[in-house]
Amino acid sequence: MRRPIVIGNWKMNGDSAFTGDHLRSLADKWAGVHNAEVAVCPPYPYLSLASDILEQTNIAWGAQDISVEKNGAYTGEVSASMLADCGCKFAIVGHSERREYHAESSELVAKKFKVAVESGIVPVLCVGESLEDREADKTFDVVGRQLLKVVEHCGLDVVAKGIIAYEPIWAIGTGKSATPQIAQDVHSYIREVLGPEGDQIKILYGGSVKPDSAEALFKQKDIDGALVGGASLKVDDFVDICKAAE
Ligand code: 13P
Repeated sequence: MRRPIVIGNWKMNGDSAFTGDHLRSLADKWAGVHNAEVAVCPPYPYLSLASDILEQTNIAWGAQDISVEKNGAYTGEVSASMLADCGCKFAIVGHSERREYHAESSELVAKKFKVAVESGIVPVLCVGESLEDREADKTFDVVGRQLLKVVEHCGLDVVAKGIIAYEPIWAIGTGKSATPQIAQDVHSYIREVLGPEGDQIKILYGGSVKPDSAEALFKQKDIDGALVGGASLKVDDFVDICKAAE
């Protein structure tokens, strides 16, 4: 059985007052025993605040990216081992916003995935096609290539230590989620590409997940939870999405 998980990706949003209030309220509303696992990824400067507030709770925290380098003269970078040292359980790698705005290649993303696992961090690998790719019927091609780069570089045993997030670019921040069937088709393809190991690997859906769309998505056989952007910034919406994953 794959335990469902919902992860909030705050992107570059919030300040210390927002982070403190939000996390305290989330910890309060999610207290108790739950089937679904919950985690949040605030911006780097607020990770220590997350650690202070969430340490004694059932909510984990993670980073939105990691450096591919282990340490040294890399100004502005943050290593996976530093994040592990700060209590991060997860790190998102290969988000489409990083692939696009920071020219991250699938090769680089594959290396980041491996470095994360080596440092004891669970990488959350984002894959997904653009609208242009989808309209040209290249979704499986694009997603398959992004995934196979990581499998080739790391091996399936290492990939099995991470989480995959299918995030179609056209659904991110647009309010236009993939339908449950569209998402399920790609999730099932991803599982097929992963082979026998694929059965244990969690595959999350991301892209305009809201409280009213979450349940139908989570009912799909190969959807194990969500990577939530905008709706993770509203505590009640995020908690409703987490409840839908139970
Ligand atoms: P939205 O939920 O705002 O569409 O963002 C999804 C996302 O990019 C999560 O990583």
